[in-house]
Amino acid sequence: MSSFSKDAVHQFFSEHAPKDIRQGIKNNAKGAILDASYPYDERIKRKAYEAHMAKLQIELVKMQSWVKKSGARVAVVFEGRDAAGKGGTIKRLRENLNPRQARVVALAKPTEKEAGEWYFQRYVKHMPTAGGMTFFDRSWYNRGVVEHVFEFCTPTQRQLWFDQTPHFEDMMVSDGIQLIKIWLNVGRAEQLRRFLRREADPLKQWKLSWIDVEGLGKWDSYSKAIGETLSRTHTDTCPWTVVRSDDKRRARIAAIQTILTRVTYEGRDDDAIGPIDQGIIGASSSLTN
Ligand code: ADP
Ligand code: AMP
Ligand code: MLT
Repeated sequence: MSSFSKDAVHQFFSEHAPKDIRQGIKNNAKGAILDASYPYDERIKRKAYEAHMAKLQIELVKMQSWVKKSGARVAVVFEGRDAAGKGGTIKRLRENLNPRQARVVALAKPTEKEAGEWYFQRYVKHMPTAGGMTFFDRSWYNRGVVEHVFEFCTPTQRQLWFDQTPHFEDMMVSDGIQLIKIWLNVGRAEQLRRFLRREADPLKQWKLSWIDVEGLGKWDSYSKAIGETLSRTHTDTCPWTVVRSDDKRRARIAAIQTILTRVTYEGRDDDAIGPIDQGIIGASSSLTN
């Protein structure tokens, strides 16, 4: 199946969504956070967000100058369920950066030729050169999660991928690439709420794919696949930072702070970066739902 009706998300919402999730979305007050286990009841206020983001933007520009000057290579992997906020976070990251040095890689599903190659091959081509940064909007982690959930790969292929991934990442790191892995974690009600809005917004409908729609009924398979993937690929050389993204703005701030504190650029202003909100970040899969 690769097509879906124009109101598929609304249909799922009214016919199949768990009752508590449906009630939560229906009663959702403006600015309120849907997930009861999230450490805040309300989203961060726009003003506070913008003031902090402005400072982070200055730091990002400083970081980019240093990356260029020093010839460093920085690769950041953004993962997470559909609508977790990967694209929006990457957009803020790149807002003031030179697009030639700060590139986004969002690969489509593998072509027939790519499907016949070593799984990591098409990603290797996009690794940054000296002075560059690459932001991956989805990555080789597709094999751990979406490809598994939708059976686009065999269990044997996935097992091999689990065996190879730590080595693949160790090789990049030992070659001098700074690899930062960020997993954005969104709750079920918030994901559904975002999908409903996408479906209703002509400017955002393109973001909705048949995978998103079919995935609505596969929440638990996703959870299982994500748990396995995080625990098996969280290594000393390449740990995950999990960021709860029920509040997009807090998540964007925490993700950018994570990058700024991992890259040791010249002139870093720790006061401007500010402390990372420990309530919404963590290293383990205990943060995922
Ligand atoms: P996105 O979340 O990037 O908008 P989708 O939700 O449509 O995209 O798909 C999720 C991921 O699954 C994408 O990275 C896509 O390339 C991948 N994908 C889709 N179909 C296949 C397939 N047949 N084989 C492998 N990967 C696929
Ligand atoms: P589809 O499954 O036909 O909805 O196609 C989904 C994919 O097409 C998305 O992941 C986008 O990469 C791409 N796409 C479709 N429309 C647009 C658009 N208006 N702007 C950017 N990308 C688009
Ligand atoms: C996101 O918002 O997490 C993704 O980048 C977009 C999507 O899920 O389609």
